[in-house]
Formats: sequence, structure tokens, C-alpha cells
Amino acid sequence: MDNEHNQEDILTNRQGHPITDNQNVRTVGNRGPTTLENYDFLEKISHFDRERIPERVVHARGAGASGYFEAYGKVGEETISKYTRAKLFQEAGKQTPVYVRFSTVVGGGHSPETLRDPRGFAVKFYTEDGNWDLVGNNLKIFFIRDPLKFPDMVHSFKPDPVTNLPDPERMFDFLHQTPESTHMVTFLFSPWGIPANYRQMQGSGVNTYKWVNKDGEAVLIKYHWEPLNQGIKNLLQSEANEIQSTNYNHATQDLYEAIEQGNFPEWELCVQIMSDDEHPELDFDPLDPTKLWDPEKFPFLKVGKMVLNKNPENYFAEVEQIAFGTGVLVDGLDFSDDKLLQGRTFSYSDTQRYRVGTNYLQLPVNSPKKHVATNQRDGQMEYKVDMAPGQNPHVNYEPSSLGGLKEAPKNSKDHEPSYNAKLVRQKIDRPNDFAQAGDTYRAFDETEKNELISNLVDALKVCKPHIQETMVGYFMEADADYGKRVRDGLEKANRERSEHTSNHAADNAVDKSKSMGHES
Ligand code: HEM
Repeated sequence: MDNEHNQEDILTNRQGHPITDNQNVRTVGNRGPTTLENYDFLEKISHFDRERIPERVVHARGAGASGYFEAYGKVGEETISKYTRAKLFQEAGKQTPVYVRFSTVVGGGHSPETLRDPRGFAVKFYTEDGNWDLVGNNLKIFFIRDPLKFPDMVHSFKPDPVTNLPDPERMFDFLHQTPESTHMVTFLFSPWGIPANYRQMQGSGVNTYKWVNKDGEAVLIKYHWEPLNQGIKNLLQSEANEIQSTNYNHATQDLYEAIEQGNFPEWELCVQIMSDDEHPELDFDPLDPTKLWDPEKFPFLKVGKMVLNKNPENYFAEVEQIAFGTGVLVDGLDFSDDKLLQGRTFSYSDTQRYRVGTNYLQLPVNSPKKHVATNQRDGQMEYKVDMAPGQNPHVNYEPSSLGGLKEAPKNSKDHEPSYNAKLVRQKIDRPNDFAQAGDTYRAFDETEKNELISNLVDALKVCKPHIQETMVGYFMEADADYGKRVRDGLEKANRERSEHTSNHAADNAVDKSKSMGHES
């Protein structure tokens, strides 16, 4: 052993062979050529060649941190067990470790964090019953309610497949045929579409979920994260432009530095509760993710708080490889029939098997912080077998009488909704695409309204007239003042453009006549 070094800090390859020269490839003479039996070099370079995994198809740009969730042991002032048997919520002061990944949606892995875009807010709770993922966004609603539309929506928001440039005309080409997006568009083009950073924003599960109690009775639930001491802050477009001119990474930097400085961000988890039925008294469907639930009727009830107090030790191993999914629920938490939620639930683990690999759940950041025992075996990159202590290693199936794994005892009643309807392809009955967009517009202050109008006009002015007209019609249906202001703004922009074009044409005509020698 080298006197100056511990065995541990000696550079080796992945076979454990010490590397004695990491500066020179092996060559015939010191001018080359190189030889092919350079195992260390080939291993080093071929691992490097494979360093990137596919980036997430959406939400590629992200930042992460870990910490804990602390339960209040009640929901608002009520006993929480009345609504859910989920263990993490029951006891006041009970802490559950969490890992959070914040993200933007449309841009690629190193895109600016100042762009107008929803922000992802995904939380993995490592509970005693296994993992629970609450995969949300900053905004409380979404563009669409049917998962079949998601790939088209994302294609229209992402860069043009020919020019590779983002194009508002493609985006509004999709949106003007998607009236249910009017509410989300109203939030997105207001200052709420550019949160100042990841700490000072809200989060929401968006979709409707269920809570289930020990008797198998369910209620409908919406989840919301409310920032505590750090508050909420959004950016005007001009402020975002200013930041973007010097810093593409301000939100990642802000989160990392705050945590390094001990300024830990905190959020309170609130839920809204509705009885588990269709609520015919409402003018919208409670399973519709394009709608807010009026907090006057369905108050925000606090259930606990989350503190983020640790930065990643390695970005790739944790933030890049972490895999969240809406199907990852624990006992006492359930899905609703929200179609968008059910479409999402297939999509997440499907993409992760491709993006990270078959055994992505064995990675430390994805693995539950409790014992795992399955009969799953093999697949690319399996590096351990999830066996129970004392389990017969020959038995990788169930049922078995030879010492294999057993089904868990059932301690509570299942929630068993019943269905009786035709199998159809249809829109929901109460789409009500515009009323809440109008409420949201009227609730904005003057600055928010002005920003919304100017951002919409900026994006829509490059669109074809029929797209502009339909969008203005939607805003008009939401609120007459809203629609009129966008229409006036577009008329002004169109006028300025045609003046500009005719001046330009006149200049060109002069120039041309000069170049053709017609100047007298
Ligand atoms: C990421 C699909 C709607 C929040 C993703 C990913 C896919 C996806 C494929 C990449 C996951 C990965 O590579 O690990 C869908 C589909 C949707 C949908 C099919 C609708 C049908 C939504 C909605 C929200 C949302 C409504 C907000 C509530 C997120 C977040 C991430 C994400 C936060 C990033 C997770 C992370 O940080 O790793 N989505 N999504 N998605 N989605 Fe969705």
C-alpha cells in the first residue's frame, strides 16, 4: 500500500483495479498509435459515452431537496381518522422523510428557469407503509381533462419539429380548439405563470383523489401546498426578462443557496374535502381538473407541514433518477375516477421504465425506506434481490408451501365503488369551460390584469386571425372586459404591424427603384 494514501482514496476502475496512470493512454511509442487493449481507457470513455439518460419528456429541468413532513394529527379541527386511515397523518408531530423535485415543464434539461410555464411540485413521502408520491404543479388546475389529448398538447407547446423553435401559433392552434384550457391560460399568462423561484410558490395535486377510512368509506380530496415564512412571489414578464439576461438557473440557485444557508423553505399541506358523489348542485364536475373548488364552500384544512433542509449529495443520482408517479399511494389514500389522473397513472411508471430502467425502483432515491420483499426478479441492472430474512431463495413465486412470501393480512375494509354505465367515448356533462376563468380574471388586481392582457396579446399577435378570433371569443365568454381588452390589444398590434409592413414596403419600393436606376 502507498504510504501517503489510504486504500480508500486510491483511484480504481469499476473492477477494483488501481489506476496508476490516468494521464496517458497506452501507445506504441509516445506519438501513438494507440492500442486496442487499453481496458482502463475503453471503460472510462465508454462509461462517459453513456452518462446521459433520456431526459424527462416533460418537466426535464428540475431541482430537488429532501426533508420531512410533520403531521398535525388532525384535519383542520377534526379527527383525521374520520376521513383517512393513512398512517402518516394520524399522530401530531409524526415525521415522515420526503424528497421533493421542482421543475419547469416544456423546456429541456438546461432551459432557462424564467420561462412562462407551469412549475412541477412533486413530493415523495417515504412512509412506514411504503412510498406515497404527490405529483403536483404550482397552479391548481390544468389545461385539459382528457389524457388522450396530453401528447398533442405537449407537442404543440414544445418547439416546432422543423425549426426547433417554440412557436405561440402552434400552441394557440391547439388551445383554440381546447376551450377547457381557458381557465389555465388565464392563470398562465398572468404573473402566476412565472413564479419568482421554487421556494415562493404554492403547490397543488390538481387532480381529485380520495381518502378512505377504516370502514372503507371515501371522500373526495384536493391537496394544496401553501408556502409558510417564505411567502408567495411571482414575476412580471419584464422582471423575468431581466433575470434571464444574466442567469438561466436562478430558481435552482435560490433553492440550493437557501438550504445551504439554513433558510429552510416550509409549506403547509392543506386539503379540501367533498363527499364522494357527483354533486349535482355544483355547476362543474368535482372530478374535472380544470376547476377550482371554492374555498368558501370547501375550506382549506391543514394536515401538516413540510420542511426542506437538505440539498442533494449528487444531482444525477437523486434529482435526475428520482421517479414519481400518481399510482404510488399508501393505504388510506385512493384514486378518484378523474380520467386525467387515471391516464397519468399509466404514463409515469411506463416512461420511467424507459427513462431510468426496469429496476428503477431499486435505486436508493426511489426505494422505500422500509423492507421490500417481492417475487420480481431479473431485468436490466438488477443489483439485489428483494427477499425477506429467512425466505427460501428458491421460491420466487406465491403461493408456496416451501417458505416463500405470504400475502399481507387485511386490517381494514376495502373501498368498493360500484359502477353501472355504458362504455363510451364522451365529454363530461358539466364542462362549463369559461365561468371560472371569468371569476379568476375578476379576482386579479389591476397589475395582474394588465400583465395578463399584454402577455396574451404578445403571444397571440403572431397567430392567424381565425386563432385570434376564437381565443378572443373564449375570453369574452369568460368576462366581457377580459375579451374586449385582448381584442383591443390585438387590433392595436395588428394595426401597428400593418403600418410597419406598409412603411417597410414603401421603403423597399424606394430602395428597389434606386437599385433599378429609376431615381430621377
Ligand atoms: C412528469 C405525463 C399531467 C405533473 C411527467 C412525465 C410524464 C408525465 C410522462 C415524465 C415523468 C418522468 O420521466 O419521470 C403526464 C400525463 C398527464 C400529465 C400523461 C396527463 C394526462 C400532469 C398534471 C400534473 C403533472 C395534471 C400536475 C398535477 C407532473 C410533474 C412531473 C411530471 C410534477 C415531474 C415529476 C418529476 O419531477 O420527476 N408527466 N402528466 N402532470 N408531471 Fe405529468
